[in-house]
Order: sequence, then C-alpha cells, then structure tokens
Amino acid sequence: MKTLIQNGTVLTTENELQCDVLIVDDKIAAVGVGLSKEGVDKIIDAQGKYVMPGGIDQHVHYSFVYKGSKVRGFETSNAAAVGGTTTVVEFVNQQQGKGLIESIEAYKSSDVDGIAMVDYAFHVVMTDPRPEVIEEIPKLAEAGYPTLKLFLAYKGQFFHADDEAVINALTAGKQAGITIMVHAENADMVDYLTKKLIGEGKTGTYYHAASRPPIVEAEATRRVIYLAEMANAPIYIVHVTCKEALEEIKAAYQRGLSVYGETCAHYLLFDESVLDLPNFEGAKYVCSPALRPKEHQQYLWEAIDKGWLNAVSSDHCGFDFAYQKHLGYGEGKSFADIPNGAPSVQNRIHALWTYGVCTGKLSKQRFVDVISTSPAKVNGLTQKGHIAAGYDADIILFDPNYRGVMGVENSLEGVDYSIYEAMEQIGRVETVLLRGEVIVENAQYVGKKGQGRLIKAKPFGSAYDKYKA
Ligand code: URP
Ligand code: ZN
Ligand code: ZN
Repeated sequence: MKTLIQNGTVLTTENELQCDVLIVDDKIAAVGVGLSKEGVDKIIDAQGKYVMPGGIDQHVHYSFVYKGSKVRGFETSNAAAVGGTTTVVEFVNQQQGKGLIESIEAYKSSDVDGIAMVDYAFHVVMTDPRPEVIEEIPKLAEAGYPTLKLFLAYKGQFFHADDEAVINALTAGKQAGITIMVHAENADMVDYLTKKLIGEGKTGTYYHAASRPPIVEAEATRRVIYLAEMANAPIYIVHVTCKEALEEIKAAYQRGLSVYGETCAHYLLFDESVLDLPNFEGAKYVCSPALRPKEHQQYLWEAIDKGWLNAVSSDHCGFDFAYQKHLGYGEGKSFADIPNGAPSVQNRIHALWTYGVCTGKLSKQRFVDVISTSPAKVNGLTQKGHIAAGYDADIILFDPNYRGVMGVENSLEGVDYSIYEAMEQIGRVETVLLRGEVIVENAQYVGKKGQGRLIKAKPFGSAYDKYKA
C-alpha cells in the first residue's frame, strides 16, 4: 500500500519545508518536493496543513490505582489518537511477589493487547526492591522495557520507594542502559505537612498545594541528582513543576551530569489558584506534584524552550469527578483522600500549540521536539518521532486555522470532566496515521480497537548520550 501526503508543510525539530511524504506500508519511504504519484494507492492533500511526527506521550497512567481508585484504561486510548498522540508510554507497577518483566507482561495480556488504539511501550515501576528484583533490572533491556521508575513520593503506598532502591536501580541499570526515572518529592515532608494541615482543620482542596510546596520537590530533585552522581549514571526526573527543582537540574548540567527531565502541560497552563475553585471543583486539579504559584510557569516555558527540560507529557490520569475525586469530600475527609492526577492525553498537543506556539513562547521546532522527537529518543523508541525515510509512518496533519474550545463534550477520555473546559483552542489535529493507516479523519477517530502495537524499546536512550564515548 502506497500513500502520498502532498503539499503539506513538513515540520521537524530542524526546519519546515513544503514537500510531500511517501508512505509504503507502515514506513515513511521518502520525503521530498514533487514526489511521483506513480503506483500510489491513496493521496492525502495536506495543503495548508502542518505535517508532523505523531506525538509521543511518555507519561500516561492507564493502570494507576490511588487508595483503591483505578483510572480509566486503554479502552479510552482513542482519546490519545484524536489528540495527535500515536505512541504512549505507560507506567506499570511491579505487582507484589512478581518480577518486573512478569508484571508488565501480565498487564499487557490482560489489559492492553487487543484494546490499545495507539502504539504503546512500558516503563516499569519498581515497588518491591528485593535482591532478585534488582538483579532482574539489566534484563529489562533485552525484554524491550529499558526504563524504570521509582516513586519517592506517596509515603505509605506500596509503590513508594526509598533512596536505597534508587541507588540500587541506578547501579544495576547502568551497564545495560536502563534509564532510571523518579517522581521527585520528599515523602516525609509531605506526610508531615499533610498531618499538620489536617490537624489544623485545613482539609479543603487548596491545602493539597500547601502540603507539598516547591521545597519538597527541590529537596528530592537535588537528592536524586546526587544519588545519580554517586552511581555515575544518568537520571530522568518526571513532571518537574517549579523554579527550585529546575535550578537543581541546571546546576547539575553545569557540573556535567546527565540529568534529564520533563514537565507536563498542566504545569505550564494552570496555577495553584484553581485548587480553590468552589463546589469542590478544585479537586479536579489535585495532582502531584501540586500546581504552583503562577510565577513558576515562565521558568518552565524557558526550560522547554532552551532544552533544559526535554519533553512535555500529559501525566494522564482518568479519574472521574462525580465519584472518585469526591472521595475527598465530606465529614472526616480531606485533600489527602482525593485520587491524584488529571486527564490530559487528548489535549496535551492542542494546549501546547495554543498556549505555547501561538503565544510565541515556543518555536514550532521546539514544539515538535518536546511532544515527539525527544521523548522518542529518551525512551529508545528509535523508529518513532521523526519524519524521514525509514521511520514508522506515524504522522499528524495539523490545521493551524481551526478555532474552537476544549472541553469534556468532545472528550474520549472516558471521564466526566476536562481540566481544559471552555479554554480556547487554536489549531487542530485533523488527520492521524498510525504506521501508515488513517486512524483519525476530520478530527474523528476512525481506527479500530486493538490496532495499537507494543513497541519494544531499545536501551541506552538519550540520557546515556554522554556515556557513549
Ligand atoms: O498526580 C499524579 N501525578 N498522579 C499520577 C501518579 C504520579 O505521581 O505520576
Ligand atoms: Zn508522579
Ligand atoms: Zn504520573
């Protein structure tokens, strides 16, 4: 099957060029001006559209459970597709008593295969760092799951990890090119502040931010950087939210360390004031780390513009508002009972274009890098994230002239709210190809359940670049 995308403006991290893209079966075969139509089965006219690599969202939760509440799963991954994301990387918790690879493969067979509507890869979350599990870490490389995350936050939850687990993971993983990722918040500081606030009767949604201020994130960020330095290994910090944590990352760069990190769309767009919305609406924005005072946003924009942070992810978490978020409502309840996380996979790319590119905060080239190219490299998704011959034909056609509003009405995320409700949207993903097949047409999902495939990732992602002599 040959498909020719004609007359679009191809956007890459380097440039933009009006040209054609030829797809043969599932791969890009050629990119060039005036490509021949001979033998072509299907022509897609991309006049007036940007043609970009499909989004890679390296931080999604389709299996996250918070104090008994479970998010919506891969049956809602068509939301990623209409949002222009063609590959998601899911965090899979190691199950108690099971190995790392075993946990991923059990989840994959029961909840992903035959269901996913975009391609997927996995990070494993190490929850049980006993010696035989540490020994298994290098084997993740060959299994195709070369990224491992530790939650320094969430004291008392089974997935909480301590410094020893981080050191052991860094040390065991580095020869095999496993990238260690951390949720960097000091769990004891959060625990102390949470108990103190609740003891003072400060239980409302707004106090979620007060229970985990920037210092909590800065401390853990600094600490894991030192742990990585001691282990002589790279480290990846997920969802960086504040100036103080960024300063730690920048200082590490200056010391020549390999410290990579991402932020998420909601930290760029929202500040902590939304946690104070009436009628318990603040609960919609309860995520960790917490939203910050507005002044932090300019530092985050600068960080993605300058490349100090390499990706903008969604940290997608599909908890509903009516029941799950309300678990923190009422007598004897507090912000600490609200499931952490917000849905965002459908809006990540549109939000970043509207509030980043259209406001001049981000060039189109940096946009492509942070939504697709760089996360592909960090995660070892070597056939994804770029428009050039040989890459998977995961392509989005983006109409920059569209004007609309975001909101739950058009959401496929399977929950009853959107954090982006009624916000202006400029530009829209019109068409999406997943390995050469059209899965979104006129901004509507037209693919098939189960069309997404497992992408086995390669070790030595870009956080290891400095280690490749
Ligand atoms: O609040 C959040 N971010 N929920 C998802 C789990 C995590 O910490 O990434
Ligand atoms: Zn996290
Ligand atoms: Zn997360």
